[in-house]
Amino acid sequence: MDFSRQTKIPSCRKLLPFIVFQVIISTVLFVYIQNFRSADSTVSASSIQGHSYKLLPENVSIVKKGAPNLTILLWTWPFGVHSTIQKCSKLLGIPDCHITANRSWYHKADAVLIHHRDVCYSPRKLPQVPRPPFQRWIWYNLESPSASPNMSFMDNHFNLTMSYRRDSDIFCPYGLLEVLTEPQNVTIPPKSKLVAWVISNWNPASHRVKYYKELKKYIQVDVYGQGHLTLPQDKHLSTLSQYKFYLAFENSIHEDYITEKLWKNSLLSEVVPVVCGPPRKNYERYLPPDAFIHIDDFPSAKDLANFLKELDRNATRYQSYFQWRTWLKPSGQMSFSLHYCKACRALQTTPFHFQTIPELSKWFK
Ligand SMILES: *[C@@H]1O[C@H](CO)[C@@H](O)[C@H](O)[C@H]1NC(C)=O
Ligand SMILES: *[C@@H]1O[C@H](CO)[C@@H](O)[C@H](O)[C@H]1NC(C)=O
Ligand SMILES: *[C@@H]1O[C@H](CO)[C@@H](O)[C@H](O)[C@H]1NC(C)=O
Ligand SMILES: *[C@@H]1O[C@H](CO)[C@@H](O)[C@H](O)[C@H]1NC(C)=O
Ligand SMILES: *[C@@H]1O[C@H](CO)[C@@H](O)[C@H](O)[C@H]1NC(C)=O
Repeated sequence: MDFSRQTKIPSCRKLLPFIVFQVIISTVLFVYIQNFRSADSTVSASSIQGHSYKLLPENVSIVKKGAPNLTILLWTWPFGVHSTIQKCSKLLGIPDCHITANRSWYHKADAVLIHHRDVCYSPRKLPQVPRPPFQRWIWYNLESPSASPNMSFMDNHFNLTMSYRRDSDIFCPYGLLEVLTEPQNVTIPPKSKLVAWVISNWNPASHRVKYYKELKKYIQVDVYGQGHLTLPQDKHLSTLSQYKFYLAFENSIHEDYITEKLWKNSLLSEVVPVVCGPPRKNYERYLPPDAFIHIDDFPSAKDLANFLKELDRNATRYQSYFQWRTWLKPSGQMSFSLHYCKACRALQTTPFHFQTIPELSKWFK
């Protein structure tokens, strides 16, 4: 661009501001062009991998076309444990992503999946190399906020969230209900015992342990776990299914934090869950109201105990907690591969746009 044509020849007195103006304009233009060039060079670099990006006029958005073989870099193996990665075409019936834990892929990776637990002990555990403009960092966490330290390290780094929270960009619940294609006859496994509880992390000061201590004054509760009855992995389901009720007590209370205690220990074992966790309304986003008993429905542990004993005596009433199974089937399917594939699907299906999560720590608590 030639600015002199649009500008009158300046007098000597006005020359200095004019020169300053020129310098500013040239600098701005230079920086703009450099930025454009560097963005452009990543376009060609990534085209090699079969991707194609288009710069929009404002240079604010990169659009991904076609069905590319996206690369997802696992920044760490979750909890440092290597696991086999299953194909997304098999798990979700979608085009496969290239999922790798090999950090040499960093510069080409469309997304970097960062597992909170493995990076939270220092901000230096996050990637330190500048990220390519097309790359998205996904914050991955399945623990509750109470068990997720140093959240503030995560502010202003991430583009997408992946957790059990329903309002995550990529939603990974601990379980879900599937709708059956036709109704099934509900059969309840034989029940010879009353209330079971499996607990690995015994904290006497916790709400759930205090509640249990009150409850057991009024009703027999069989406790499994460290320091209690033993429950071998292979006997898990067969043991629990003999009980009428299971105490699905979460270790901390947070929105949507409903774990395998409900999905695996109760619903897949065909035991009626007695839940302690977020409010009933929150559970009802995942389950029919008559699929569980909430401790908040009772003024005291004694009242809950009386209610459970009443159900124990009345088969018709007890069976009503299984009616929903006519049309619904619980699935506690949980695997790292499934989560990686959910990330893969999200990257394939959501249109590319820039997004930063400035205050992750304010959201996740
Ligand atoms: C990581 O990927 C690079 C580039 O593809 C390759 O040369 C290297 O052998 C890989 N490393 C491992 C440990 O697989
Ligand atoms: C939180 O960060 C501090 C400072 O980096 C670190 O010393 C501490 O170990 C971290 N906490 C956990 C639980 O990783
Ligand atoms: C369910 O029960 C009804 C009545 O007992 C019976 O006619 C039907 O065949 C059963 N259906 C299945 C899928 O077992
Ligand atoms: C059992 O519960 C049902 C349904 O609430 C009720 O109609 C019935 O009278 C109860 N039976 C006994 C023996 O209490
Ligand atoms: C991702 O977030 C970072 C950090 O805030 C930001 O610099 C970058 O532009 C974002 N990238 C995308 C693709 O949204």
